[in-house]
Amino acid sequence: MSKLTGSPAWQALAAHQKKAAATDLTALFAADPSRAEAFTIEAGGILLDYSKHRVGAETMRLLAALAVQAQLPRWIERMFAGEPINTSEARPALHVALRGREATFPAGRDVMSEVRGTRGRMRAFVEEARQGTLRGASGRAITDVVNIGIGGSDLGPRMLTRALRRFHKPALRLHFASNIDPADLDATLAGLEAETTLFIVASKTFATAETLENAGRAKAWLAAALGGTADLSRHFAAATANVGGAAALGVPRERVFPLWDWVGGRYSVWSAVGLPVALAAGMDAFEELLEGARAMDTHFRTAPIERNLPAVLALLEIWYANFFGAQTRAVIPYSEDLRDLPAYLQQLEMESNGKRVDRDGNEIDYDTAPVVWGASGTPSQHSFHQLLHQGTRLVPVDFVVAHERNPSPAQTALAANALAQAAALAFGNPVPGAPHKALPGNRPSSVVLLARLAPRELGELVAMYEHKVFVEGVVWNLNSFDQWGVEHGKVLARTLAPRLLGGGDAASLDSSTRALLARMRERD
Ligand code: F6P
Repeated sequence: MSKLTGSPAWQALAAHQKKAAATDLTALFAADPSRAEAFTIEAGGILLDYSKHRVGAETMRLLAALAVQAQLPRWIERMFAGEPINTSEARPALHVALRGREATFPAGRDVMSEVRGTRGRMRAFVEEARQGTLRGASGRAITDVVNIGIGGSDLGPRMLTRALRRFHKPALRLHFASNIDPADLDATLAGLEAETTLFIVASKTFATAETLENAGRAKAWLAAALGGTADLSRHFAAATANVGGAAALGVPRERVFPLWDWVGGRYSVWSAVGLPVALAAGMDAFEELLEGARAMDTHFRTAPIERNLPAVLALLEIWYANFFGAQTRAVIPYSEDLRDLPAYLQQLEMESNGKRVDRDGNEIDYDTAPVVWGASGTPSQHSFHQLLHQGTRLVPVDFVVAHERNPSPAQTALAANALAQAAALAFGNPVPGAPHKALPGNRPSSVVLLARLAPRELGELVAMYEHKVFVEGVVWNLNSFDQWGVEHGKVLARTLAPRLLGGGDAASLDSSTRALLARMRERD
């Protein structure tokens, strides 16, 4: 038994779970008319109603005790003090500095002047682009910007650019390409004009195969259209910690926006990786996004655990993953503009906490991050909600709903569907004599209600999930800031590519990979 599962707080929760499992949500609501109010937390523009979870006051007290036992308040302060909490890479995790206002931070190693300087350069670049004075090699104004990046260098800016669709100014159109499959960039470039297209190559390392391949193909596309003698550098900008790598591609120095080793890819949207968001919605909107995140940072640092949005979301996750055996959590935004949120959270949550050894390298005996999945409602209702309502698995759901003022009839119907799904999951629908029609209910969900789908609220939302992941990592005793599991696959792919081309020794490969390689080569 590990230190965690043998601990008093864990054991108390395990004992309490037996009682909790025997009561259902209908009974909990009937017993307490003020339940909705008691299990709702509001901070800034975000309201979390978690009353439709299988918890009572005692559950929340015991879960908070688990967080205290893990020394959550001390860990929060360690992160905000800039201590090197990413131990396997001996680095701090300073994404909060990217939205901070401190004059200097952290003690002994100020990063704020570089952060401010980069933001100032981003503003100048964004204004130039939005005023139409950013010009390509032929002198025509840039109208289309393609972000080439993958993982954290793609999912955050892609999700937020789409989420802020209503704030876009018509001058610039944003596009994204991430896959090494040429079909991705080809489809993106179809219909674009080389003379008026700018590529942002976003890569912290500037060593990621997909991104370098796509950047090279983008350059070839430009050269083919504009001629080899054209100044292609006018069509590139970069966000990277590897300034030399960007220079080697031919990105002019003044268009290289720095990143730093102290920010993880999946936490980097607040940096120059967020440039597409700023280009689409304007630098003021980007600054509001940062303000929202900063407000969530303050809430996270100061609110007591039981009233703390990220902490409560994390503890609910732990409750189901570790005490009810839930293997997955669905994220269903009732907003087409937020439809990329599940993909963004997949990386944030699963790359951060999809781990099986603790901070000290010990194998653990408890589950960590569940599989995060989802899609936008209402299309999801006509796809996988059947399983949510009547399947055999327990799948907690986050319904993310943007509250619209003066909604249109369709927007009203959208919101009604979200609330209806949450209620149907919780309270079910008994149909006597027809078990195939009955919904058992007692299926947990959160409603995360955004006051508006606007930069500030989105900043709060994303920072809320970042800190949720951090709290889980603290309780599970994980380093949430490394991702060693991704590396081996990259190395293997590099060794297999030459073998597909006919070179290299296949004898050392496993028989399955060898046979598949042979079949693929036969078809060439
Ligand atoms: O998939 C692993 C990963 O290292 C992610 O953590 C990261 O966001 C992504 O690759 C892209 O990395 P880079 O920004 O260095 O190209």
